[in-house]
Amino acid sequence: MRTFIKYGSDAQRLEWSQKSKEDCKSFELRTTVANEMIQSPFVIDKYNGHASYATHHLTDLVSEVMQWSNDVISKSNLKRRWKPNKPLIKLDFVNPSKLTWDSPFIKLATHKDIISAVSKYMGHVPILYNCGLWYSKNVPKNLASSQLFHCDWEDINNIKLFVHISNITSEDGPLIIIPANKSKQVRLATNYTFGPTRYYLQDKEVEQHCSKDNFIELSGQPGTLSFLDTCSCFHYGSRVKESKNRIVAVFQYLSPAAVNLMPKYRNVAPFKHLMNDELDQVNKLLVGI
Ligand SMILES: [Fe+2]
Repeated sequence: MRTFIKYGSDAQRLEWSQKSKEDCKSFELRTTVANEMIQSPFVIDKYNGHASYATHHLTDLVSEVMQWSNDVISKSNLKRRWKPNKPLIKLDFVNPSKLTWDSPFIKLATHKDIISAVSKYMGHVPILYNCGLWYSKNVPKNLASSQLFHCDWEDINNIKLFVHISNITSEDGPLIIIPANKSKQVRLATNYTFGPTRYYLQDKEVEQHCSKDNFIELSGQPGTLSFLDTCSCFHYGSRVKESKNRIVAVFQYLSPAAVNLMPKYRNVAPFKHLMNDELDQVNKLLVGI
């Protein structure tokens, strides 16, 4: 069942998602709380599915995230960790189960202005699903996997918040994205499904249905915040030029009715160890009640 939905068309996935939300006990509460939140200075437009902020009011907190990230990477033996043929290291730097409320990652991931922006976009308070630190480097091979255009399969909508740790220019493998409305047109025109044979599209095929003028490069200085609905927006990244690299911290927010969470998300919510009675309602929802 889940494989069928995961690999389905937009229409099949939308139908399944609506049914899942009806079955999700906390969904009504999540929607009500999102509607009552004050508007965030960050606004993610539904039509575009993304928003980037090179300057913002969370400089101090983002600096803590950058310092923590740079410390971890400087102490890490990158050569030992590197897997041949993989352009991206993203799994080992951050262990979600070890993060506490004092961690800069959790403080940023749960900041009220971040959560308000994400909740207003998604229409409900989501689950914080992941905190990660990605380091991409040049791999002199044909482009593969996330270096090719795709939409993430986890749900109809989600939000990933990318925090630039390094300075990201055109040469450092920035994310290249297509806004949500244009991406929808490309999925329809290409008969896109989220299944294994049609998940990654070559540039040429995408460009047949969408002018390159619509592509947006998410480059920017350290500290830049980029919100992106990676399920709705085609994107690729990590096309890193020789001797360059890209470092980003990544936070993912999912609906409790997401394909990879239902029906027993309580058992898999990665930050459920952060639950305690003292939390306010928003944070309780974020970590997975
Ligand atoms: Fe992706």
